[in-house]
This record gives sequence, C-alpha cells and structure tokens, in this order.
Amino acid sequence: MTASDRPPVRIGLIGAGFMGRQHIDFIDAAPGAELVAIADPALVAADVGHPVFASAAEMLADARPDAVVIANPNALHVDTAVECLEAGVAVLLEKPVAVDYAQSLRLVDAVELLGGRLLVGHHRRHHPAVARARAAIRDGELGAVVAVSGMWSARKEDRYFTDLPWHSAPGAGVTLINVVHDLDLLRHLCGEVAEIQAMYSSHARGLAVEDTVSLSLRFESGVIGSFLASDAGVSPWGWDQVTEETPAFPFLPDGVAYRIVGSRAALSVPNLARYSYDPSIPADWHSPLSRTYLPVVPRGSFPAQLDHFLDVARGTAQPLVSAEDASRTLALVEAAGLAARSGRTVDVARFRADARAQGES
Ligand SMILES: NC(=O)c1ccc[n+]([C@@H]2O[C@H](COP(=O)([O-])OP(=O)(O)OC[C@H]3O[C@@H](n4cnc5c(N)ncnc54)[C@H](O)[C@@H]3O)[C@@H](O)[C@H]2O)c1
Repeated sequence: MTASDRPPVRIGLIGAGFMGRQHIDFIDAAPGAELVAIADPALVAADVGHPVFASAAEMLADARPDAVVIANPNALHVDTAVECLEAGVAVLLEKPVAVDYAQSLRLVDAVELLGGRLLVGHHRRHHPAVARARAAIRDGELGAVVAVSGMWSARKEDRYFTDLPWHSAPGAGVTLINVVHDLDLLRHLCGEVAEIQAMYSSHARGLAVEDTVSLSLRFESGVIGSFLASDAGVSPWGWDQVTEETPAFPFLPDGVAYRIVGSRAALSVPNLARYSYDPSIPADWHSPLSRTYLPVVPRGSFPAQLDHFLDVARGTAQPLVSAEDASRTLALVEAAGLAARSGRTVDVARFRADARAQGES
C-alpha cells in the first residue's frame, strides 16, 4: 500500500488555544491526517467546523479518534495523556511533558505499562538543520566535540505577564517556558548532562520568576557547555528568531542559536555554517579558516513533527521524543533551579534518582 492509499489518521485535538489552533492548521495541511473533533470547554458553544466536546473523555467516547494532539494547560498534561493512552489512542503531547519531574514519572510509567504510543512536542528536534548537525557530530565531521554554547534572548511584551498571570508566578519563568526547548536540543545534540551550575536573575522585570539565566553544563561525554537566556533583553539570537517556525517572530536569516566547537571544525546551528582549516595547511589558530554551509532541504519542524507522529500512530516508528526522554529534559530544568537556589553544582543523575526515590516513598 502506498502512502497515498493509506487511510488518514483520525485526530482529535484537546485544547484549542494559541498552540492548539496552530495544530489545527498543521493537521489541515497534512495529507495523511484528518481532524475529527476538538475537546475544549471554552469552545463548546462555538462553531469551529468540527464537533466540539467539553472534555477529552467525551471526545474519546464519541468521536473515537485514532490519535490525539494534547495542547491544554501544562497542569493537565499527565492526567489527559494517561486517559488517552488508556483509551488506546496515540498521543502527541505538547511540552513540557508535565509541570514537574515527579509528575512526569507517572506518565513514563503509564507509557511503559500500557505499551503506549506517545510523542512529546519538542518540535525543534524535527528541524532538518538539527538532524544534519547531529549527524555531523556523530560522524566526526567536527573532530571530537570540545564545547557548545547557546543563547535565547527576546524581549517579551509586558502584557505577556499581566494578561496571563501564571506567566509571572512560580512554575513559569524563562527556564521552564523557553530554555526547556534549548536544553532538550542540547541533550539531543551532545548527550546527557552530568552536572549543571546556574545563576538566575529577576532583576530586569522584578517578578517572582527569573527573567535572565546563565547555565554551565558538563556533559557525560566530557563536552563543556554554556547557555544564556533572557525574556527581558532584546536580541536577534535565539531559535525563534533564526528559524521560520512561527510567524509570531521576525525571521533573521543566517542567524545562530548554538555554536559547537570541535577539535577539527566548528559548526553554528541552525544556519549550518562549518568553519575549518584547509587540509593542506596546519590545523592551528594561526591558519586562515574557511566557511562552508552544510546543505539541507528546508522544512518546518511542526509539519515534520506531525508526519513523524502519523508514523508513531500507525506503529511504524518509535517516537523521536519519548516521555522518558522529555522527562529527563524536565529534570534538567529542575536541576538548574536547584543549582541557582543553592549556588551548588548539581549532579543530574543523582538529582533524578533522589526525585524518583522521593516519589516512591
Ligand atoms: N511547542 C511550542 O513551541 C509551544 C508553544 C506554545 C505553547 N506550547 C504548549 O501548548 C500548550 C497550550 O499552550 P497555549 O499557549 O496554547 O495555552 P492557551 O491557554 O492559549 O490554550 C489552552 C487551551 O486549553 C483549553 N483547556 C483548558 N482546560 C481544558 C480541558 N480540561 N480540556 C481541554 N481543553 C482545555 C483552554 O480552554 C484553552 O483553549 C502548553 O502546554 C504550552 O506549553 C507549546
């Protein structure tokens, strides 16, 4: 059976707010997917061209989708995802996988127990430049990776914090809302983080949550990393400004979110500029560097993520971002918070083990 002969995967959307509406557009544009229903208590009286239900349970029972996309508030993620897995449907769950690491473990256990098909929406991993950068690292195109640095800084509008008060309350902050994507990608590119140090500041906005952070990372591979982020500082540096992922951000072509330095070459991401010495000259700091761009076929992360999810739903692919994987990213965010509060270096594996043991006691 060719791809075009296969029946479309029938999808239900749970939560049709800012992100959920974007998922509607992605599903409508995907030949292999069909949106069959929406569950959102705020939309029951609205005419949105699809059957609308007040709850996920009602939608699952009545519309019987093959798969769901969950884009409801973070605090509902784990309960909703477990409910859908128990109903036997495949799940694309928006990030963060849960509001905290302890809660995410409940989902990890449920996926394993139920043999569930679940993909977490860390969409950047599906960007073609990320796959190419990962291959360059894996295949030694940079030599041995020595270090990585990254930045995400963009000044959010003030009403971002006043219109939605949870944005300025503990449980939010630039680390969990934005840097979670970068930490996930750094793990994807450079492997697990062994140790983390952090400095947080609320100085620029004066809110209860951090607006600016600096992180130091030691990866298990021995690679050293640093990451700087702020939602108060104007800058062109950050994934959202240097990709065309969302029209909500201006696009600055040839921009850089991450810099990876190896023993033979350097690579910036996502513009994939590779800097190296000509093989005919000595490979040291006095020689001129040449720059080439690694070729890649452009594609948005979100459509690529949906295509992958259709394969996960059909049972023909394992999820690129599993619940277990995403929960490790969440643990890293929490370990960063602990490092910032305590001023100590946090051993990430021990942090995860302690949190798991606490949850079981
Ligand atoms: N991947 C990304 O880059 C990205 C970007 C933005 C948001 N997100 C994630 O998407 C999710 C939604 O964020 P948002 O910005 O769209 O929030 P939002 O507040 O705009 O939308 C949430 C929607 O969920 C609905 N909802 C509330 N309770 C519900 C329930 N019990 N059942 C079904 N629906 C319910 C609300 O009515 C609302 O329409 C969050 O998890 C967020 O972290 C991801």
